[in-house]
Amino acid sequence: MMSAMARNGLARGGFLMAKQWVGIAFAALSLAACVPHDKTKDIPSAAEDYATFCSACHGPQGKGNGDLASEFNPRPADLTTLSKRNGGTFPTTKVMAQIWGYKGKKGQGVMPNFGELMDADNVTLVLYDGGDGIETPTPIRLVQLAEYLKTIQVK
Ligand code: HEC
Repeated sequence: MMSAMARNGLARGGFLMAKQWVGIAFAALSLAACVPHDKTKDIPSAAEDYATFCSACHGPQGKGNGDLASEFNPRPADLTTLSKRNGGTFPTTKVMAQIWGYKGKKGQGVMPNFGELMDADNVTLVLYDGGDGIETPTPIRLVQLAEYLKTIQVK
């Protein structure tokens, strides 16, 4: 049974308490977001994914000169000039579409689609703004790769 004092305190402190609870709930949420879930544990890094899936064609540095490059017509693109060839802005959504393999991508049929592969861990999604100001749940490996490619752009 609650004492009168405690009850008064509760009534007066009710608002604060509610705020504290919200705070605790948020803290728990962000903790959950930080602690890697089992699923995310084995996710390869962008550099690993690039080496596995891309460098044979696009080259280890993304210059478009991988071992298999000469086998293809058109040749695999130079991935270090994506921004330069797009007026200085990295074309994030186009790049992602190309990797994922949406219809209408460049050179359809030449470059493989990687969508299924990168979704193989069955959707580890992160909120990602590909440049349109809208955060969209996006497979983490695709996000990582896009961010990685941004870092290898020439001026
Ligand atoms: C089998 C060879 C091959 C592999 C593997 C490959 N690509 Fe490609 N990629 C190509 C070719 C060929 C083109 C050029 C298509 C064209 O220009 O019509 C291309 C085009 C692209 C483009 C568009 C470039 C532009 O100028 O618009 C991007 C971005 C890209 N690749 C990224 C990647 C990434 C990232 C990977 C690894 C996940 C990858 N590619 C794996 C062959 C490959």
